[in-house]
Amino acid sequence: MAEVSSTIDALLHENREFPPPPDFAREAVANDPGIYDRAAKDPEAFWAGMAKELHWFKPWDKVLQWDPPFAQWFVGGKLNVSYNCLDRHLDGPRRNKAALIWEGEPGDWKVYTYWDLHREVCRFANALKSLGVEKGDRITIYLPMIPELPIAMLACARIGAPHSVIFGGFSAESIRGRINDCESKLIITADGGYRRGNVVPLKRNVDEALEETPTIEKVVVVRRTGTADDLMQSGRDIWWHDAVEGQSAKCDAEPMDSEDMLYLLYTSGTTGKPKGIVHTTGGYLVGVYTTSKYVFDLKEDDVYWCTADIGWVTGHSYIVYGPLANGATSVMYEGTPDHPDRDRFWAVVEKYGCTILYTAPTAIRTFMKWGEEYPERRDLSTLRLLGTVGEPINPEAWIWYWQNIGQGRCPVVDTWWQTETGMILVTPLPGLTTLKPGSATKPFPGITADVVDENGIPVAPGQGGLLVLTKPWPAMLRTIYGDPDRYIEQYWSRFPNLYFTGDGCKKDQDGYLWLLGRVDDVINVAAHRISTMEVESALVDHHAVVEAASIGRSDDIKGQAVVAFVTLKDTVTPSDELKVELKKHVTQKIGAIARPDDIFFTAELPKTRSGKIMRRLLRDIAEGRAIGDTTTLADSSVIQTLKEKYGEETEG
Ligand code: WTA
Repeated sequence: MAEVSSTIDALLHENREFPPPPDFAREAVANDPGIYDRAAKDPEAFWAGMAKELHWFKPWDKVLQWDPPFAQWFVGGKLNVSYNCLDRHLDGPRRNKAALIWEGEPGDWKVYTYWDLHREVCRFANALKSLGVEKGDRITIYLPMIPELPIAMLACARIGAPHSVIFGGFSAESIRGRINDCESKLIITADGGYRRGNVVPLKRNVDEALEETPTIEKVVVVRRTGTADDLMQSGRDIWWHDAVEGQSAKCDAEPMDSEDMLYLLYTSGTTGKPKGIVHTTGGYLVGVYTTSKYVFDLKEDDVYWCTADIGWVTGHSYIVYGPLANGATSVMYEGTPDHPDRDRFWAVVEKYGCTILYTAPTAIRTFMKWGEEYPERRDLSTLRLLGTVGEPINPEAWIWYWQNIGQGRCPVVDTWWQTETGMILVTPLPGLTTLKPGSATKPFPGITADVVDENGIPVAPGQGGLLVLTKPWPAMLRTIYGDPDRYIEQYWSRFPNLYFTGDGCKKDQDGYLWLLGRVDDVINVAAHRISTMEVESALVDHHAVVEAASIGRSDDIKGQAVVAFVTLKDTVTPSDELKVELKKHVTQKIGAIARPDDIFFTAELPKTRSGKIMRRLLRDIAEGRAIGDTTTLADSSVIQTLKEKYGEETEG
């Protein structure tokens, strides 16, 4: 844990503190510090109290059934997530309130009131039924950031068909693997989406994926870019607009069991095969409803914008389900922050009068690099609260965000959580918590987290270790789809009865938590998880490659960048063209987010005597550090040669 301790040293010098602004604190949704004690004393009563704010067709019999490591929440309860996100708001003044404000990258935009969204969701839910979708069928969604994406998700939730959303940046092969893993019956896509002025050919990727997906019967296609009119396969493909034509605007919400699956979301773990994280209905909704309300301090007139892509968990929980369950106005933007110019985010804030902005540190660091002139062009005075998620935020970026975007007025909530946790778990409450730049501060009320050493013993204040969760929480993953053994092995076997997060963490004298990044073989690139194994399997799939090792190298903007060390076949001559080709190959196999920034050819990789690649040493080389402990290496000359060669090549 040598790297962890050097990061701790840097963070220990960070001692600025930001108490909640008094005006903010006075009006805050969570303004009673007693919430922490109350929730700690009886977490089940706390969550049950929150659950009562939602609509249940049938109340639960038992709040929590905990058969470690398998949890069930609100056992026996019946509810529907789509009903809670839509119908629940139709009787009062929220009926005509903006539920979704959407802006496309080319500048087109559209506002859906709760009434509108309900109508469109019902029509599409009926369309799905008429295409043969039944309760329990898995539906894959591969869409750009357009309104049809949340509409499709809510329609699936309405009829009880779990969705599996795949980020639009993933390749045909990634789509295929995800479809086949959950054997989905239908896929919803678009002809294309706009990104930095270009069209992403989604339908083409889907067609390629579907060459080997025996379970898919139908493809619903949204016409967004007009670029796939010649790609429609009769009998299999149907336009979205044709599917909803003539469908009724009423569709009863299916009463779902609290533990019925709401969705699956694939994420990278420590092996090459992405895991299908399973989220269920009742506990998940209670978790995202409660955290949206308290962490983002949601008030009736807020305009809340989370800049994530719905292809990731942040978009699921904090663009769609959490905000809509609260009856909030949620903003959604299709494209990149630099199109047509680098002030696009600030133009969106200005245009819609956003009051809350939730984004990732990698975006903030990019804005820092571009300079203050871009936010200065726009009126950001409506903002009152800022948030970050996805990776550790360095104090400099935090301060820049606070000063230049929040104009010294807006609390910054640094929220730690994971695809697996479903909901924010470590975070400030903006009206109560004194902020320290770089710290996600404390567990949310009702959540118990700790930092432990290699033996699972809690560390003393001021020490670093591994972040663990000590009790079940409502939105926790229930299992890995089709693989409960992997669920146990991955999260619950390192320490008995503790959920292992895979993150390093420091606890300071005040009990604040400082997240330090992954301690396993997961690379966090621009707040997206990629496993070293995934990149390696993509590389060895190439005919020129014998063996490959990939690592995350610290990167000023992206947090980490993928770097690969590759051993070529004897018959292959190393060249720069081959590097380009290999990068392209990884993009094809996984998607552009996994593309290595650098590829380095080496005759041998450093390995232990049992043949395990020592990625830790490769990271030392890539980051130009002193090489760590090499005593377990089978052949220590390998690392010396590598270091010298790497030095020569990167200097040149
Ligand atoms: C990292 C994203 C530090 C962490 C919601 C975690 C963070 C992984 C933070 C999960 C934060 C997320 N500070 N690190 N505020 N938020 N992480 O599944 O390493 O895409 O394990 O979920 O992101 O990434 P995932």
